[in-house]
Amino acid sequence: MNILGIETSCDETAAAVWLTDHLASNKIASQEVHANFGGVVPELASRAHVKLILPIIQSALSEANINKQDLDGIAVTYGPGLAGSLLVGLNVAKSMALALKVPYIGINHMEGHLFSNSVLEKGPEPPFISLTISGGHTQLVYVKGWGDYKILGKTRDDAAGEAFDKVAKMLELSYPGGPAIDKLAKDGDPEYISLPKAKFKDNSLDFSYSGLKTAVLYHLQNLDSQERHRHKADIAASFQKAAIEVLIENSLKALEEHEIDELALAGGVACNSYLRKHLHQESNRRRFKLYVPPVNLCTDNGAMIARAGYFYLEKGERSEYTLSPKPSLSL
Ligand code: KG4
Ligand code: ZN
Repeated sequence: MNILGIETSCDETAAAVWLTDHLASNKIASQEVHANFGGVVPELASRAHVKLILPIIQSALSEANINKQDLDGIAVTYGPGLAGSLLVGLNVAKSMALALKVPYIGINHMEGHLFSNSVLEKGPEPPFISLTISGGHTQLVYVKGWGDYKILGKTRDDAAGEAFDKVAKMLELSYPGGPAIDKLAKDGDPEYISLPKAKFKDNSLDFSYSGLKTAVLYHLQNLDSQERHRHKADIAASFQKAAIEVLIENSLKALEEHEIDELALAGGVACNSYLRKHLHQESNRRRFKLYVPPVNLCTDNGAMIARAGYFYLEKGERSEYTLSPKPSLSL
């Protein structure tokens, strides 16, 4: 089966081709237009998707060396995400499916991330635990089987990536803030300030970043401009340590509580070098298998959507043409 995957839930316009048992192409056009605004501007994102979507699909088909007539099905993200952005991908998918007389299926973006490690040759097989951490989501998911998920923990306020982006803004770093903090933190002292880690009374595996973010803000407010400049890398390193350690601690607890020995990472924050280094150390020490996708499969991409779509289309599942975008869709 030749499946085209389309992803336009936020600010990446992405398309990929999955050919039964391997990925044949994975094309992503990152929208530069948002950098000047320090965050994604929904209206601009939709307009950029309209401009980029057909060229990116054409490029994915060319790289896979197939024509659109060779497609057997189309998979597309229908939520969660920005309504206008989702509309663009969904309408293109429906139109192509109608014109080519092939089935199409709407995919939950968060389920797509769960499939991102399975695009690779030896991906995880359920049961496993997934830590999906991006600019919009922070979820610890127990993947009991494909299509059978239990959310073990989620953020109660900001997503992990959102916290990186907001703290980067406080430190006057470029957008997106995650990579900028990651880079700067390499020159800083992670022990410079001790920052609070949210813990909940009910022993839950939830996350919270608002207290940490406010603590960084208060610390900065007490420094003069020279001190701020001098300790910028130290603050970045201290924040990164606190933000990442809670992700690691909760993931380890989830593995232990459910007696699972496979952990898969997904989402843009999974690119973080501190997280990767420390989780690798833990996986060696505690003997669990760690799956870390390459950068272009961590961030939003069409490959994970095509792969998830293949799973459902192959079983004969299809979506109706009346399917509409679901901006708040949950897993
Ligand atoms: O998955 P993604 O590309 O888009 C969605 O939000 O769905 O994730 C983007 C997020 C941004 O918040 C960005 O700052 C963060 O991932 N990010 C990182 C790193 N690279 C990207 N956060 C921490 N460290 C990184 N190296
Ligand atoms: Zn995502």
